[in-house]
Amino acid sequence: MCNEQIMKKLDYKLIVSSGPTREWIDPVRFISNPSTGRTGWEIASQGMKIFNDVIYISGPVSSKFSIVDGAKNILVDTTEEMACEVYREAGNNCVLIMAAAPADFTARITRDHKIKKTTDEAYSIELIPTKDILKGLIGHTYSNFIRVGFAAETNDVDNYAKEKLIDKDLDYICANRVFKQKIGFGENNANSLHVFSRSGWKKDIGPGSKTENAIELLNILIDDISH
Ligand code: CTP
Repeated sequence: MCNEQIMKKLDYKLIVSSGPTREWIDPVRFISNPSTGRTGWEIASQGMKIFNDVIYISGPVSSKFSIVDGAKNILVDTTEEMACEVYREAGNNCVLIMAAAPADFTARITRDHKIKKTTDEAYSIELIPTKDILKGLIGHTYSNFIRVGFAAETNDVDNYAKEKLIDKDLDYICANRVFKQKIGFGENNANSLHVFSRSGWKKDIGPGSKTENAIELLNILIDDISH
């Protein structure tokens, strides 16, 4: 049986989170990052060929990556909103791929009015961490709930990824390097991924386009899950 038939028969649901989130400082300013949402969109789009049910939860991504045809598309803004939607969709027989790059910090106080530049002095904003969506799933009681994280790193990629695999109690983590020769955020050529599993193996994907990498990632995950 091929992978598509296996997953349709197992009736797993695929949840993919994608893109950045925004944490608002005041009505006109926010904290975010340059994630375009392409990685998550490619995975969810390829997942449509394999899974009966695909949920695509995206932050404020580029318009071409905001909708996956045929999927249940959920648009969110903040990390808190993304967490709520992921938790709402999570359940038994589910593969969650957190390809999103949620903002890690939020302002302790979001101002109701635009902060005015009344002085030339430095202006401080107190930041507090946002909810870690994957960590919030540690201790879940679902059966066959597979959690896949991404680790976008600028250096020491494999080691940070392996730490996150353990720290976030994941089944798999996909590590990639960002900001090196513009490869990573938004680029669609010559991307490489290193996939680490809870059971200890490592598989390298690419270099290739994000489409090719998404196909290979899904195949690797399905092979491992179904055997
Ligand atoms: N993630 C999450 N909730 C957050 C931040 C990240 O669930 N608030 C998920 C991401 O979607 C990704 C994984 O955690 O699958 C790793 O994200 P990353 O930004 O690489 O790591 P952080 O945990 O944010 O740590 P750091 O920024 O210190 O590298």
